[in-house]
Amino acid sequence: MDFSPAVSSPRLLLRRFISTIYCIFEIAFSKLTYWTTGACKGTNSFVAGDKLDQNKDQNPTIPTSVNYHFTRKCNYRCGFCFHTAKTSFVLPLEEAKTGLKLLKESGMEKINFSGGEPFLHNKGEFVGKLVQYCKQDLQLPSVSIVSNGSMIKEEWFQKYGIYLDILAISCDSFDEATNQLIGRTQGRKSHLDNLFKICSWCKEYKVALKINSVINIFNYDEDMTQQINLINPVRWKVFQCLLIDGENAGETALREAERFVISDQQFQEFLDRHSSVSCLVPESNEKMRNSYLILDEYMRFLDCREGRKDPSKSILDVGVKEAIRFSGFDEKMFLKRGGNHKHESILLEFADQKCSQEAHGDSGPAAEIYSSGGGICP
Ligand SMILES: C[S@@+](CC[C@H](N)C(=O)[O-])C[C@H]1O[C@@H](n2cnc3c(N)ncnc32)[C@H](O)[C@@H]1O
Ligand code: SF4
Repeated sequence: MDFSPAVSSPRLLLRRFISTIYCIFEIAFSKLTYWTTGACKGTNSFVAGDKLDQNKDQNPTIPTSVNYHFTRKCNYRCGFCFHTAKTSFVLPLEEAKTGLKLLKESGMEKINFSGGEPFLHNKGEFVGKLVQYCKQDLQLPSVSIVSNGSMIKEEWFQKYGIYLDILAISCDSFDEATNQLIGRTQGRKSHLDNLFKICSWCKEYKVALKINSVINIFNYDEDMTQQINLINPVRWKVFQCLLIDGENAGETALREAERFVISDQQFQEFLDRHSSVSCLVPESNEKMRNSYLILDEYMRFLDCREGRKDPSKSILDVGVKEAIRFSGFDEKMFLKRGGNHKHESILLEFADQKCSQEAHGDSGPAAEIYSSGGGICP
């Protein structure tokens, strides 16, 4: 029989025994550290619930993922809108960039530009320049926009598409009459024609497409399975229509969204009808309320805990760390709703692939994602 030297030498055997014991202790110790301090450092990690509250002062919230509503103006009049044109203010470009840099220095990895309608201000040039700045200068892993899609031109994709990872287009119905009822339209223009044009541009310019739908009294009994499967977005976010005092409910509001609201059961019925759609990500009122870090047009965090949007001071005046204390951000809910979603890593991979494709021509993995039908549209 052929014994290896390790087995045949008692000294080597002893050394291996000691190193095995050492290894067992090391694993046990690292497991203990994992469960007492959280899986890994940073806000994207899982942190045991109670621990999170206790440590809030020592470990202030890190703005890993931020939604910057830089404008409140919009060309649509969706009756349920919860971010309305209460001001027409937009920060000068350089100040907005300064704020974004501060956020990056505080740990921001994902930025989403929203509004109002982000493509309205300066005909999309403003958001284009911010997207370019975040990707090229700040090198953020994820740069996205959510838009109603009505103002986007192909020239925008030609100029800025390369800097954009994800474009979310809001579509609440595949029936134009329902879009008219909701107010998700400008005059008699077709919301759906725009949506399908954007689908094909996303495919051509290799921007990942998401669809956002607000489920409300006018669409909760619709079946959108066929159209969503046809569009094949990377993610379909399905929101339960949410009321925010001072925005779409209450005396000072610019909208009266009470008539759009649906019950939890009606929302669940909609979800059940679409259970075969694998990219569907539901967001109930409970999940939505405090699980987003929202910055308004003055770069103030908005705290929605009291059912309205209470602003902090601007990060441009007091810095991120001080302002974020008044953000009302519920990190546990952020994690629960998948704010650090597994899917996001696919998107990030997608973005990396897009970059390498830019460098290596049109045969990279992103092109494969699209050609294999993993991407977008007919
Ligand atoms: C405020 S909009 C701004 C961006 C753009 N104008 C749009 O409609 O996509 C951002 C997202 O919030 C959603 N939204 C607006 N009002 C809502 C409400 N009351 N409940 C849930 N989601 C809402 C919109 O459908 C959209 O997907
Ligand atoms: S939800 Fe409708 S009204 Fe509100 S900002 Fe978006 S498109 Fe405009």
